[in-house]
Amino acid sequence: MMLHRHRGESKLHLIEEASRQEIDRWIAKYPADRRQAAVMAALRIVQDQNGGWLTTDLMDAVAEYLEMPPIEVYEVATFYSMYELEPVGRHKICVCTNISCMLCGSEEVVAHLEKRLGIRLGETTPDGRFTLKEVECLGACVEAPMFQIGNTYYGNLTPERIDEILDALD
Ligand code: FES
Repeated sequence: MMLHRHRGESKLHLIEEASRQEIDRWIAKYPADRRQAAVMAALRIVQDQNGGWLTTDLMDAVAEYLEMPPIEVYEVATFYSMYELEPVGRHKICVCTNISCMLCGSEEVVAHLEKRLGIRLGETTPDGRFTLKEVECLGACVEAPMFQIGNTYYGNLTPERIDEILDALD
């Protein structure tokens, strides 16, 4: 039986059934007393379930489910750039500005995106369509400069290519 060390109301109901099943698959990869090892996957899963961002209640639900102190879950969620603690646009554009991308023109990429979308890095368009975010190396340096939207990487970016990519999104 699960040990509830958390005070107050249970938040477990916030984790949808499909998400719970997916989290369970991650938990199963680790020894029984190490379910906390699934925390990164669990946060990604509930973030997806919630339209791309994490509420405190959702993080509490993950902590409860993985039987770990909420503060440890908050620490993971604030440390890694793939987690969002505020609502994001339908498409989150993660622009790499690390060294290889910088040398290959990420500044131009950012400038073009900011101009086209009318927002700065870290902001979301008023229509809720796009969020622009600066991230560290995504390991796709051979195609620098690059960005990630959803699960897709786009490399060798030029202003023209960026326009094509954005035009094709809903
Ligand atoms: S520096 Fe941009 S992907 Fe590595």
